[in-house]
Amino acid sequence: MLLVNEVEALRGYVKGWRQSDEKVAFVPTMGNLHAGHLDLVEAARQHADRTVVSIFVNPMQFGEGEDFDAYPRTLEEDRAKLQEVGVDLLFAPAAKTIYPSGTGQQTRVEVPDISDILCGATRPGHFVGVATIVCKLFNMVQPDIAVFGEKDYQQLMVIRHMVNDLAIPIEILGKATVREPDGLAMSSRNGYLDAGERKQAPALYRLLRETAAAINSGAKDYAGLERQALKDLEAAGFRPDYFVIRTADNLQAPREKGETLVILAAAYLGTTRLIDNLIAA
Ligand code: PAF
Repeated sequence: MLLVNEVEALRGYVKGWRQSDEKVAFVPTMGNLHAGHLDLVEAARQHADRTVVSIFVNPMQFGEGEDFDAYPRTLEEDRAKLQEVGVDLLFAPAAKTIYPSGTGQQTRVEVPDISDILCGATRPGHFVGVATIVCKLFNMVQPDIAVFGEKDYQQLMVIRHMVNDLAIPIEILGKATVREPDGLAMSSRNGYLDAGERKQAPALYRLLRETAAAINSGAKDYAGLERQALKDLEAAGFRPDYFVIRTADNLQAPREKGETLVILAAAYLGTTRLIDNLIAA
């Protein structure tokens, strides 16, 4: 596996592959890789001849007081894992390669509306940071296809909208969330949970499942279901941020019969913010 830190070298390798008519898939990450990331890599490998993974803890998507400094940086372990699963190139740029003039001077990509709700309301500027880095990485790597986890459902929607609005010629593939045996969605942030919180954590997915089951059995009082789930989350020891039932493709409140719905939740256990979602249909 090639380890590349600079854009010029990255482009050189990708250009060579393209000249040999090889299809390139890309998996952007912030590292601290777990089985969920490796599942994305596997999907990338199945859809292309060459796989590029990036590891970059993007300062622009962290707000003030968030965990940018504490975010786990495990490059050597990550590198070994990626090598083992057959990744062709790991792009691990320094911050000055990505933001030579700092994040303040960076041209920004903003996907309107969808960036400002749910996680975007609690974390102002987060999705501008995500859209900007993903757009920039897309331009650096120039893949044919890019793979993202559905665990970050709103992020996936923001990226799909961005690619559509900016006519970026990259196919976006969403992959189902990989879960621990007790149902907790895999996330680098699960490592922040202490033993007691780790035991409480699967309640988030349990409540998503219960709400999905109610909807699938014909419940239509979505506001009532949301209120009940918020209460149940508190009873399970969480400090809920949101628990909502939305239309799956634009995250707006459901309006029409027959729409595919997604249930999205974010809640704190101690200082750790967990997110999860489930399609109800
Ligand atoms: O999902 C993530 O790990 C990050 O938000 C991403 C897409 C790599 C952008 O920094």
